[in-house]
Amino acid sequence: MYDLIIIGAGPGGYVAAERAGRAGMRVALFEKENLGGVCLNEGCIPSKALLNSAKLYRHAADSKAFGVVSEGVSYDQARVIKRKNKVVRRLVAGISNQMSEAGVEVIGAQAMIIPREGDVFRVEADDLVYESRKLLIATGSEPVILPLPGIKESLGDTVITNREILDLEEIPKQLIVIGGGVIGLEMACYYQSVGSQVVVVEMLDHIAGNVDPEIGRRLQQVYEKLGMVFHLSSCVTRVEGGTVFFEKDGAGQEVSGDCILLSCGRQPVTTGFGLENLPVKTERGAILVNEQMETSCPGVYAIGDVVGGYMLAHAASREGEVAVNHMQGIEDRMSYRAIPSVIYTDPEVAGVGKTKEELDTGGCAYLEVEIPMGWSGRYQAETERGTGLCRLLLDKESKELLGCHLLTPYASEMILAFGIMIEQKMTVDAMKRTVFPHPTICEIVREALFQLG
Ligand code: NAI
Repeated sequence: MYDLIIIGAGPGGYVAAERAGRAGMRVALFEKENLGGVCLNEGCIPSKALLNSAKLYRHAADSKAFGVVSEGVSYDQARVIKRKNKVVRRLVAGISNQMSEAGVEVIGAQAMIIPREGDVFRVEADDLVYESRKLLIATGSEPVILPLPGIKESLGDTVITNREILDLEEIPKQLIVIGGGVIGLEMACYYQSVGSQVVVVEMLDHIAGNVDPEIGRRLQQVYEKLGMVFHLSSCVTRVEGGTVFFEKDGAGQEVSGDCILLSCGRQPVTTGFGLENLPVKTERGAILVNEQMETSCPGVYAIGDVVGGYMLAHAASREGEVAVNHMQGIEDRMSYRAIPSVIYTDPEVAGVGKTKEELDTGGCAYLEVEIPMGWSGRYQAETERGTGLCRLLLDKESKELLGCHLLTPYASEMILAFGIMIEQKMTVDAMKRTVFPHPTICEIVREALFQLG
């Protein structure tokens, strides 16, 4: 009898398993593919390995302005992919070690929940039945496959998803990206940087979803300068081989390429593991949970992409910790006040807390300050013709930080500090008394605070 069975070993499941194992619980972690889930095997980590190679390449090729003359710079995609695979293998092995050190039993099989017996949850895998007092569902998400003519037929051939795009041995001459959200932009950035002609077809009138609109606009301009083409307010209607048909301003248009990336969002995985055998409520395709990540069925918890919402690895990990704490009677609850979000383009986009649009909709009185990144000495020293931006949003009454939005190199590393300030409800005065290292790009936020008077 286990204390906890976890289904899914992504950054939600494996972090929860480690925390529970270290706390002395007897844990079984089921994974049908690889430890690390989508994040480690076909998402966050491999894409960052590729993007870093592309950044090095572009910086080498564009180094003249910095007084560095580099000639004959070339890009070896096969080698880049080989290195990416090595990074993934190393990290997967690391998780495997972490699990054994925490005393977690990893079961490499497809788990199927079967009807419980009394208070005992039961899971079947490879003809064996495992029993547990608690159950944690961390089955993640899968790409949305648009139900449009031609997509299914071309899937895996000309139409690919986040999984295959990370393993293309040859750089496509022309890449069409359907969906200008996070995955679409990161992969568009990668392939445009290493030689593809990329065309992004996006249904909304802006790229980057809920990102600060001015930041999204500036990012678009950066990539337009590199030759990327954006079709906004353009709804894809069908695909035929390598051709994407879409409607823009009421007129039919088409664009062709040798490869089409489908990046139109992800949906929770709630089928294929026997969820129907438990009285767990779902809403709009995601599992419903409370602040402790417990479902409508006591003793059953769910975390990560399967509960919808943020669909971010770091949110999933924290949700896992909250669930495990609750199982042990430790007071904890999930807070979504300050979940940072990052798009790893070059420059990076990072934001935390509320956006201007959310505050306008919520009718909250706020103060706003927007300053160019060019006010930062370090940014000037290291960037040529950058159009970076920093926007801070503060509560007009309490002067607490509500949101921070950045377009700049290092934004992904900077954003944590501002998340802490939001989570800790720091006021302008307290933030102004904080000493920032100089010269750093981070200092821009201090500069912005002093604009408030
Ligand atoms: P997304 O939700 O970010 O973007 C999908 C885009 O597709 C939207 O802008 C939508 O308007 C557009 N779209 C939908 N239907 C369309 C149509 N018929 N024609 C044209 N455009 C259409 O989804 P994405 O990029 O697939 O990412 C999925 C998830 O993965 C996100 O929830 C994200 O949080 C996560 N992710 C996070 C990363 C990060 O934190 N850096 C990196 C990659 C993924």
